[in-house]
Amino acid sequence: MTKRFVATVSGALLVLGLAACGGQGAGGTTDTASQQPADLTIGVSMPTQTSERWIADGKSVKEKLEAKGYKVDLQYANDDIPTQSQQVDQMITQGADVLIVAAIDGTALSGQLQAAADKKIPVISYDRLIRGSQNVDFYVSFDNYKVGVAQGKSLLRGLGLENADGSKGTKTGPFNIELFAGSLDDNNTQFFFQGAMDALKPYLDNGTLVVKSQQTKVEQIATLRWQQEAAQKRMENLLTSSYNDGAKVAGVLSPYDGISRGIITALQNAGYGTAAKPMPAITGQDAEIASVKLINDGVQSSTIFKDTRKLAEEAVSTAEAFLQKKTPEANDTKTYNNGVKVVPAYLLPIQAVFKEDVTKALVDSGYYTAAQVAAGKTK
Ligand code: GAL
Repeated sequence: MTKRFVATVSGALLVLGLAACGGQGAGGTTDTASQQPADLTIGVSMPTQTSERWIADGKSVKEKLEAKGYKVDLQYANDDIPTQSQQVDQMITQGADVLIVAAIDGTALSGQLQAAADKKIPVISYDRLIRGSQNVDFYVSFDNYKVGVAQGKSLLRGLGLENADGSKGTKTGPFNIELFAGSLDDNNTQFFFQGAMDALKPYLDNGTLVVKSQQTKVEQIATLRWQQEAAQKRMENLLTSSYNDGAKVAGVLSPYDGISRGIITALQNAGYGTAAKPMPAITGQDAEIASVKLINDGVQSSTIFKDTRKLAEEAVSTAEAFLQKKTPEANDTKTYNNGVKVVPAYLLPIQAVFKEDVTKALVDSGYYTAAQVAAGKTK
């Protein structure tokens, strides 16, 4: 048998196979490798539109998939778990061929993922790891532990205890600080917290840093759904309960820009932000435009830039690999155990951004325009 004949026969079998599966609309049960992008749909499930970062993520993923000719079903779940479950269910019944999911609650989608697995629809966990399910095929994210370390180090630098290169800074402390963490149902929260605490530990151990409220456990400092208002409330409570003796807060570890903005509002309402009562060094994450302006204005100390365009690209190339029945390239096959299995991951690098880095990291890279940074808005 010649090679060409084998190819022809297998091609014919493939066509028969596709016909038997009902072709288009049958989700992952079709042989997606032989279909045109225009016949394939990617379901993209994002947590919320209240945060600018997820709007940017959804937009990037959609645009990049559509540029390759795929159909995209992009849904936002309003930070509501039943809504997200329902949206993913619907993507499956409407014939999605791949799912890209940034979960609200990392453990809440097991039923949906089982339904996806039954139809052989690959599932890509986006930014946040989906836990407790065998049916997560790949994880695209940033190095979340390194994000935490960079946040801890940024706090040390903001306080003047360390320089940018990690060498000893000009200040010696002791400093009062307070700690904030993200939502406990998000797998990233523990990575950020652990990384930050590893960076801060020597300074906490030797008394250079003092958490005056004594709230240092992740359960005590967590922020449900990463909400700005919840963070503002907690900061207000901390100021009343632990700083009513004239003591001042010198630094706040914040895991996300939205939380940082809530903290800043509480501090400003309490009279911080003057020469006599300077704004503490406050960290963040995501380089959200409103916070980049606050950094430029000297109100927020730093953020962690995670280039969502690159994450979107990674999600798209992973989806494409699955559709072409190839194995996506992982660069981490050890770290992300979701409780049932270690999920192969591709982790992207991160970058701490202080005022002096804004232009190079965020404007020169085309992430924002100078006008957007000046306005603190993207529109
Ligand atoms: C995390 C994500 C952060 C931040 C946060 C709040 O899962 O990794 O970058 O966006 O959610 O949305």
